[in-house]
Amino acid sequence: MAVERTLSIVKPDGVRTNVIGEVFKRFESAGLQIVAARMTSLTKAQAQAFYAVHRERPFFDSLTTFMSSGPIVASVLEGEDAINRNRELMGATNPAEAAPGTIRKEYASSVEQNIVHGSDAPETAREEIGFFFSHADLVQGVRT
Ligand code: CMP
Repeated sequence: MAVERTLSIVKPDGVRTNVIGEVFKRFESAGLQIVAARMTSLTKAQAQAFYAVHRERPFFDSLTTFMSSGPIVASVLEGEDAINRNRELMGATNPAEAAPGTIRKEYASSVEQNIVHGSDAPETAREEIGFFFSHADLVQGVRT
């Protein structure tokens, strides 16, 4: 199985409800390594750019208002099959449909305010990592 990198975001609801550590602990317990991490916040325009693929969706304005409503924590996770494994740890987009024990089932309050974002494919992972991190930010040679 290939070693991959994927972008994770703890969204403003996750920062507000104090579960950054809980989310990171799940990544680490699953064997994913955090090779870059940064607390930051998005302007509305930056949130619109990040979620541009959803610009025609009815929830786009509300989503980008939410994503620019407070600090977020962006991180890069590395490991075998990291993209899919992170998606499994997060659970379904809608917490009502998420499997028991997943991050969204445990902590999320709605389909919009769903605590975490994770890249959905290798190409989006590359783009999304580049949105938040430069090459120099990514730790090299962490894996033993
Ligand atoms: P995320 O995995 O970050 O990808 C797109 C985001 O849009 C998603 O998580 C949710 O925060 C949001 N989203 C997806 N579907 C809906 C919906 N039906 N209503 C409101 N927000 C949604």
